[in-house]
Amino acid sequence: MKTALITALDVASMTQAWEIVDRIGPEVNWYKVGKQLFTLAGPQIVNGLKERGKKVFLDLKFHDIPNTVAAAVRSAADIGADIINVHASGGPTMLKAAAEAARERGATVIAVTVLTSLDATELAAIGINVSPAEQVLRLVKLTQAAGLAGVVCSAQEISLVKGHCGPDFLTVVPGIRPAGAAHGDQKRVMTPGEAAQAGASHIVVGRPILAAADPAAAARAINLELAAAAGRQ
Ligand code: C5P
Repeated sequence: MKTALITALDVASMTQAWEIVDRIGPEVNWYKVGKQLFTLAGPQIVNGLKERGKKVFLDLKFHDIPNTVAAAVRSAADIGADIINVHASGGPTMLKAAAEAARERGATVIAVTVLTSLDATELAAIGINVSPAEQVLRLVKLTQAAGLAGVVCSAQEISLVKGHCGPDFLTVVPGIRPAGAAHGDQKRVMTPGEAAQAGASHIVVGRPILAAADPAAAARAINLELAAAAGRQ
């Protein structure tokens, strides 16, 4: 299966969002809308993307009591989000409620396991005395058992996740850098081709597209790399 490219719409205004989306044009079908843009622009940004025929990954990482998260998932699906995410650490009851709400609405819900900003020391400070890798695996299993469709994970974790959850479990992978692109604050990166080869269902790419002199060409190059990797499988 060809890995899908999701462009992270990490911009500070609606004007900038439409400028970049319209410049990129048909090369990108999926956009990720996160807390910065959604807090500023709200459902309008999702509506606008849907009007342009795009699919939306609404990256708001819901984490609350089960009833509230289920209601938020329904709202997200109702405004047009195709993929919605929650924190796996919200627990099994919350995860099941999110999965059930998504099923009702025909949306897809995935989970975030351990934020990459949390190392063993940070985890210990919140009472989690296992390594980040062990905690990721525990939460991945919990996510699948609760009926969610997949997880956000790093490229290095794809084979572990697929090994435990099977090939159909979604792996949505940020931290992607085309060969030669600036790494910025991303420490452990893979190229689009490597992530596709490893089995990523989706890759999330922000700055290498947003900051390119020609964002459509940057996206096209990534899509060609993904197609070549799919051809090799
Ligand atoms: O610009 P860049 O390609 O690094 O953007 C990656 C996107 O993926 C950003 O929106 C970032 O917040 C998100 N992300 C990440 N690492 C994670 C989870 C999400 O880079 N572990």
